[in-house]
Amino acid sequence: MERLQKVIAHAGIASRRKAEELILNGRVKVNGKTVKELGTKVSATDKIKVDEVPLVQEEKRYFLLYKPRGVISAVSDDKGRKVVTDFFPIVEERIYPVGRLDYDTSGLLILTNDGEFSNLLAHPRYEIKKVYIAKVKGIPTKEALKQLEKGIHLEDGKTAPAKVKLTSLDRKKGTAIMEVILHEGKNRQVRRMMEAIGHPVLKLKREQYGFLTLHGLIAGESRELTPHEVKQLRTLAQTGKNR
Ligand code: URA
Repeated sequence: MERLQKVIAHAGIASRRKAEELILNGRVKVNGKTVKELGTKVSATDKIKVDEVPLVQEEKRYFLLYKPRGVISAVSDDKGRKVVTDFFPIVEERIYPVGRLDYDTSGLLILTNDGEFSNLLAHPRYEIKKVYIAKVKGIPTKEALKQLEKGIHLEDGKTAPAKVKLTSLDRKKGTAIMEVILHEGKNRQVRRMMEAIGHPVLKLKREQYGFLTLHGLIAGESRELTPHEVKQLRTLAQTGKNR
C-alpha cells in the first residue's frame, strides 16, 4: 500500500504538493468515492481518478546496479555530483535507490519505483543479509574480530552480531581484506565499526544483498531483476526465508 498523493505524483500528473491539493480539493476518487484524507493508502489494484480521468499507474521496475565509487545514492544532487539514476538514462519511470551506499562505497544497490517493495526491504523485521568486502588499515587481531562479532557500541546503539572473516593480508603494506556480513543497515555502519576497533576502512564494496550478487556486472553496469527474483526478495523480507 502506498500513500495516495505519492501514487498520483508517481503517475506524473502533479508534484507531491499539488497532488495533496488535488486530494484536499475533492478532485480525487478512489474506487468511485471521493477521498479527501491525505493519509489514505492505496494499492496497485485500486481505481484512482483525478477530475474523473482514470490514473494510469506507472509500471513497476526493479533494477540491480553495480554502483561505482564516487556516486551519490540519490536521484539528484545540488552540488552536481554523479547520482545513481544517471546510470539509467533510458528508464522513464521514477526509480530511486532502496537504502544507500556511501559516496565512496561501490557495490550492489537496488533501485525501483515500487514504494511498497522498497519499504518492505528496508523494514528491520527480517533485515536482509548484506555482504561487504572491506580493505582496512592494519591487520586486525583475533580479539578485534571477536569484538565485531559480539557487537560494537556506536553512538546510535550497539551493533547486532556480525560475521567477519579475514580473507587476505598484506604485511608489507599493513593492510587487510575482510568479509563483513551484516543483517542491519545503520548509517556508515561498516566504516564506523572498523574505526571503532582501530582499523579504518580504505576501500569498501557491497558484494551481496540477500541472494543477489554482482555476478556478470562491472562497475556502472546494471540489470533488471527477474520477476522471480523480486518475488524471492519479497518472501525474504516478509519471512526471513528465501523460498
Ligand atoms: N557500511 C558503510 O560504512 N558504508 C556503506 O556504504 C554501507 C555499509
